[in-house]
Parts: sequence; structure tokens; C-alpha cells
Amino acid sequence: MFEAKIYTQRRARLRQKLGSGVLLFLGNQESPMNYPANPYHFRQDSSFLYFFGLDSPDLAGIIDVEADRDILFGNDISVDDIIWMGDQPLMRDRAARVGITETLPLEKLKETMRDSLAKGKKVHILPPYRPENVLKLQSLLEIPADKLRDKVSEELVMAVVEQRSVKIPEEIEQIELALDATHDMHTTAMRMAKPGVLESEIAGRIEGIALSHGGFVSFPVILTMNGQILHNHYHGNTLEEGRLMVNDSGAETGMHYAGDITRTIPVGGSFSRKQEDVYNIVLNAQTTAIDSIHPGVMNKQVHLRAVTTLAAGLNDLGLMRGDVDEAVKAGAHALFMPHGLGHMMGLDVHDMEDLGEKYVGYDKSVQRSDQFGLAFLRLAKELRPGYVLTVEPGIYFIPALIDKWIKEDKHTEFIDFERVNEYRDFGGIRIEDDVLVTEEGCRVLGKPIPKTVTELEEIIGAG
Ligand code: GLY
Repeated sequence: MFEAKIYTQRRARLRQKLGSGVLLFLGNQESPMNYPANPYHFRQDSSFLYFFGLDSPDLAGIIDVEADRDILFGNDISVDDIIWMGDQPLMRDRAARVGITETLPLEKLKETMRDSLAKGKKVHILPPYRPENVLKLQSLLEIPADKLRDKVSEELVMAVVEQRSVKIPEEIEQIELALDATHDMHTTAMRMAKPGVLESEIAGRIEGIALSHGGFVSFPVILTMNGQILHNHYHGNTLEEGRLMVNDSGAETGMHYAGDITRTIPVGGSFSRKQEDVYNIVLNAQTTAIDSIHPGVMNKQVHLRAVTTLAAGLNDLGLMRGDVDEAVKAGAHALFMPHGLGHMMGLDVHDMEDLGEKYVGYDKSVQRSDQFGLAFLRLAKELRPGYVLTVEPGIYFIPALIDKWIKEDKHTEFIDFERVNEYRDFGGIRIEDDVLVTEEGCRVLGKPIPKTVTELEEIIGAG
């Protein structure tokens, strides 16, 4: 937990920005896996964590702007709870740790909300993403669940996004801590990537590394020889010599700041010529993108620089043809990279995605494209110092997509499908780092993780 004054300042800034009303933040509750006493790993809501800091279930907080009161709702535990969970600090002591002096039992929340509404105060809420919180809001605000969407406060969403987007040094320190664990996860996976090893042995080992650093994984591990499946969580294959293995994984700290790194490695330790050529195109696209990150630059431009570099490399390789800029304008490169360059990162690995990508990644200056590929860009808007984002280009050979485009005669002026067919069983390559936008440009966060062909060939299988 940060010092109390950080949470106090965050709430004060939000109060000032909104100017009136009551801002309601619901924490998360335990979510049963197969029976109530056997819950999933508890994960607090990230906006609740950001403004109220406490990482346990069954809490809520309000910022009553007009009354100038911050109230934390939650219950002190009973002796029955102590028997199973051990002693816990009292609510008033927990509240003090985040700069709050006023606490009320959770049961008082409904009465407080009713009172606010009766006084004509606007209650600002964020979009709920858990069914339990949908039900709670339905009861607290006396609105049917299917009407809650209309009650979400765009003003509050935009103010929260503005604040959470710019990371303070203490948050960067946390992200770099997450990246220390993530470094160990990736270098361990590299050392283990030998023929005959199960994907699940590596996935399990690296998930354990995240746990051993005191946090959890920041999203389910993606570790696969079938890297052409972008979010492949199947870990049942046995590694084969000569195949590529994509490892997209990261840890989060005990305070829930995330790391998110991808490396692609040749099982057994040596890239074939064909793999090395494609790998270096992706690497060149990634470093070109990182070099172009500066405050004031639109991330959509960074994405377009990356995919233009990718298309130029694929032209040199004979898989694409024609004018590179025209090919990118037409979206032909999306056969090979059908996703965006990256996303914001912080307390969530896709930071604030629950609040709506159109607020996090877009604003008045940039509309989402409807072109296949570019439409999946999560972060397009202008970059500001303090933003943390991922930069993760890739090249994939997705047989179903190749067949679809062949059938539709799509972009045949820019793609040599005969050559592409020679790569049908290639798999995929993605390379990802986490980057902080600074006043001068940017900084790749965390200790360097092997990334060049030479660096990878040295470490793979070496343990
Ligand atoms: N690293 C996984 C994702 O960005 O979705």
C-alpha cells in the first residue's frame, strides 16, 4: 500500500474535477468457483484500489463532493471469522491507512445512497463488470440491471481515466517490480525450452515464479508452439525441435501493478533461416515503434510506423509486394498482424479496460477505424508523459485467415499468396515490451530480457 497521502490526494483531485455529486466505488467480493467456501483467487477492483487502497472483499467507498466527506463502508470481523481467517485490523484502522476517518458498516450504504438521492445529489458510478456488483447497484440505486448502463457516469469515467493514465514514480516502481518477476518468468522459460518438455511444465513453473514474488500472474499465461493463435491458453503440447514457442506472460505485484512481456523463442535454441528472417522483421518493427514514442505523438502513428516497417520487411521477403504505404493504407498487412500495437498498462494489464476502451485509448481527436486490423488498436490517442503502454507487434500465419483471403481474392495486388502458402505451418512471432512515456521520449521498463537472435540463442535450453 502507498502512503495515506497518495490516496487522499487522488480523491481530492477527483472531487475537484467532478465538482458535485456523490462518487460511488464498489470493491469486489469473493467469487465462488464451485461452492461458496471455495472461491477464485480474490482480485480487488482496480479503481477501488487506486482511490481507496484496501485489498480485501466486501468494501465500498464514497466521495461525497458537496459534503466534502470520504466514507469507507465495511464490517469489522466477528470471532467466527477470526477462527478461520485470523485477526484483522479494525475498519477504522484500515481506513486511516488510506487517509479516511469516517467508516460505516456495509449495511449503511443503501441508506446513505437513498439519502443522497433524496437530497437530489447525482450519484456517479463506473460501469460494473461483475454480476455481483450489477446486483448490488441495482439494489442500491433502485434501478433495473438492464438500465444501469444508462446511469454510468461518463464524467466520472473520463476523470478516472485521466488520473489513472498518468503514472506517478511510486507506480512506475511497482511496475518495475512486476517486471523483475516477469524477467525471471521469461528467462526461466527460455532455459527450459528444450524438445520433449511439455508446454504445461513451463507454464506451471513460470506461474509459480509470479506467485513466489508475492503476487499473481497479471493475466492467464499464453505459452504455446501455436503462436498463430493470439491468445492461446492451451498448454498440452510437447515441445518439438525446430518449432517456435510464444511466451506472453507477466506477473503483478502484491499491490496489483502489472508486467506484460512477450518473447518468441526457437525450441532447442537455434532459429532456422526462415524463422530468423521473419523474427528480425518483427524485431525491427518493435524497435522502430519504440524509437518513435514521444509525448505528443499519436499512438496510432506509432502503430502505423510499426506495421509499415513490417510490410516493408515482408516485401523484401517476397510475401508482400507493391507500394508499402498503399498496402498499409489498404490494410493488406493485417493478414500477418491482425491486432493493434499495444495497450495501456498499470493496475490492470489492459489498464482500465472495464471503463471502456473508447475512453482509455481514444478521444475527440481520434476515432476508431473500422478497417480489419486497425480496428483492434486499443490505444490510438496522443501519448503523454507518465503513460505506460505495451509495444507488441507480431507476424502470424493463420491458415483459416489465409484461406479466407484467398477465397475472397483479397489484396492480391499486395500479397503473394503462393509464397504465403509456404509458411502455413510457421506459427507466429510476437515481441513485446512495456514502455514509459517520459518528458524527453520514452524508456523501456524493467531489466532487459534477451530479445535479439544472438541473445536468445545463447540462453535457450541453457539450464
Ligand atoms: N498480453 C496479453 C494481452 O495483451 O492481452
